[in-house]
Amino acid sequence: MLEYIGLGLALIHFGTPLSYYVYMKKKYFGKPWDMKREEGFKPKITVIVPTYNEAKLIEKKLDDIYAQEYPRDRLEVILIDSASSDGTLEIAEKWKEEHGEINLKIIGEDSRRGKAHSLNEALKHSTGEIVVITDADSFWGTRDSLGRAAEWFSDPSVGAVSCLKDPEGSEAPSIELGYRGYYNVLRVAESKAYSTPIFHGELASFRKDLLEEVGEFPVDIGSDDSHTATKIAAMGYRAIIPEDVLCKELVPKRGYNSWRIRRAQHLVQHFMKAMKLKVKAPKNFDRILKVEEYLHLMNPWILLGGAVLLSASAIMGSLISLIFLALGIALLMYKPYRTWISMQLYLVIAAIKNLWSRE
Ligand code: GDD
Ligand code: MN
Repeated sequence: MLEYIGLGLALIHFGTPLSYYVYMKKKYFGKPWDMKREEGFKPKITVIVPTYNEAKLIEKKLDDIYAQEYPRDRLEVILIDSASSDGTLEIAEKWKEEHGEINLKIIGEDSRRGKAHSLNEALKHSTGEIVVITDADSFWGTRDSLGRAAEWFSDPSVGAVSCLKDPEGSEAPSIELGYRGYYNVLRVAESKAYSTPIFHGELASFRKDLLEEVGEFPVDIGSDDSHTATKIAAMGYRAIIPEDVLCKELVPKRGYNSWRIRRAQHLVQHFMKAMKLKVKAPKNFDRILKVEEYLHLMNPWILLGGAVLLSASAIMGSLISLIFLALGIALLMYKPYRTWISMQLYLVIAAIKNLWSRE
């Protein structure tokens, strides 16, 4: 009996995301966008770069923004630093002196209160119609990322735009790529269907008036970007990741596992908070959000439950359980499967770790 419950749980665990993926890919991924996009649309943009101890990367980051093909008079950059101790602020000041032609404001806070807090502060100084948030440890790679992201806002239904990730500089590049392939298809398909509840810190852009409407970036969770995008989507605007807005993420060479757990913690915090959203989201977004909540909060535990039941019944002598357990372990040779399993473990660990550490 135990073995059948265990197998059932495993079936649910693998079957749900697989069906969702196949369904979304077939129904939406290849479909044309249902919105109009005006080429040459150049709204005034404010790029905000929050920094805390980014001395090593900050020059390269500012160079990357500087290299964007976007009219300088339509672009404002705000760097907000929270009392870094490694000289980030001084390096940024020096960079500014050497690049007088770009409109860069530098704000130095006197203590560290987190990324979202800094974003809320920087917002008060921003004058753009579109606000683009970008992490110092990320690069856009293409010179038109900013321009492409901005163009999507020419459709008044679009409230937020993020980028498609291209992992770079990874200690474990293949595992990252395996993960990205699956996730990138979902992000684009969800965006075409309506909106995606997952945004990326590499490039998260928002209509400024909508940011004001949804209130501040949440300071109590790690994924300020995804959560704000979700709130905007719930209000009835589109929060999208188009295939042509690209960004690169620097995957840390050291501490890869703890970095993945941290990321998973952010996602778990975001979806837990999203479950408590008061507004009634449009039906097609509500469905996407519910599936993603399930996939991030519940589904990993179902795998764990299935594995425990199968192990228990295998110990009690069930041959079926033993065979399926062995199969589950043998499949770890297969990379996409291994990536999937590790992500499930990260999500379980993240949920537990969130109980005492929210960072
Ligand atoms: N001003 C300021 N103050 N900046 C900060 C602070 C702070 O207290 N803490 C971190 N930052 C800056 C970092 O310097 C970096 O530029 C950016 O905020 C993101 O910080 P990371 O430490 O690199 O965050 P992460 O990589 O774990 O998570 C990022 O990605 C997630 C998913 O894409 C963040 O952008 C999350 O907000 C995002 O949800
Ligand atoms: Mn980062």
